[in-house]
Amino acid sequence: KKGGYRFYMEKEIYEQYDVLKENTLGRNTKEGIKFDEVDKNFFEGINNIIISACGTSYHAGLVGKYLIERSAKIRVNVEVASELRYRNPLLTKDTLFIVISQSGETADTLETLKMAKKAGLKTLALCNVDNSSIVREADKTILLRAGIEKGVASTKAFATQVMTLWMLSNYLADKNEYEIINKAIESTKVNPKIHEKIKRLSKRYLHGHGFFYIGRDIFYPLALEGALKLKEISYIHAEGYPAGEMKHGPIALADPELFVVALLSKNILFEKTKSNIEELVARDATVLTISSELIELTDDFIQISDSNHPMIEFFEMMVITQLLALEVAIRRGNDVDMPRNLAKSVTVE
Ligand code: M6R
Repeated sequence: KKGGYRFYMEKEIYEQYDVLKENTLGRNTKEGIKFDEVDKNFFEGINNIIISACGTSYHAGLVGKYLIERSAKIRVNVEVASELRYRNPLLTKDTLFIVISQSGETADTLETLKMAKKAGLKTLALCNVDNSSIVREADKTILLRAGIEKGVASTKAFATQVMTLWMLSNYLADKNEYEIINKAIESTKVNPKIHEKIKRLSKRYLHGHGFFYIGRDIFYPLALEGALKLKEISYIHAEGYPAGEMKHGPIALADPELFVVALLSKNILFEKTKSNIEELVARDATVLTISSELIELTDDFIQISDSNHPMIEFFEMMVITQLLALEVAIRRGNDVDMPRNLAKSVTVE
């Protein structure tokens, strides 16, 4: 059933290219973005967006904030559902309430959706499971079409969540990025040489006191997600940070046993991020840089293809962070698909 892969998670990482093709089929068209599930009227009168989700789905939401605010110029607040649920939030009727969920059964996310409906907001679900509780509750749903995800650590669902939000940002902005979206999908094909390199590298990244993942802009939520993937399946402490935050405290932890995964985009804030990396190197942290630009100053380096759009870099880096978590966890002898203490869907709070 795993089709020659060691774990479902590995299979699901490799499936991402096909899954994204499916996710964008009939939606990303030469004429622009089309969604059969919703029409433009649905978005009329919307001045704000709230995105509510948990875990990986929350990280996808954060990427969505950068994309939607930048293209469509609509204010987006992204909320952890378990927090939003109990803080008696200010909900105004000119707000579109978006929930993101792979399973469609996450209790906290579902409750926030009910709360928003009660307050009279329009609601939209980005969900992978048709006929799930969240889909039944939401006014409209855009299905993620990721197929069944078995690994507890979400990979392909995250890819489709980010892609759907990217398409939505284009849709709301009347922007056409047909070719760029297709290139981004291409970039999720696993490069066997890079996978081999990650396998080799992983043995050096087993015994530190923790990991930092750093990035700026959309690469900051990717840093959060990379860190979550690693901690879920390898049980190593990992944190994601905006690269610019290092000197506000975290850099105090830098020493050779601190492993840093640096997501260095060529297209967004390259110089700023590079100097954050240099500061960590100067304090002897062990740094692995992922970038299209050859960086010789760090201990390790994984080169991605040269592209002129951050979302193409994003998807290629996403696959690399997933593979890194996978290989570190496998070397530690862990059951990658069934990590300790975790369930695939969290239906109780
Ligand atoms: O099914 P959902 O997307 O609502 O689930 C949300 C989180 O429980 C989920 O993303 C969790 O963080 C995953 N284990 C991440 O890999």
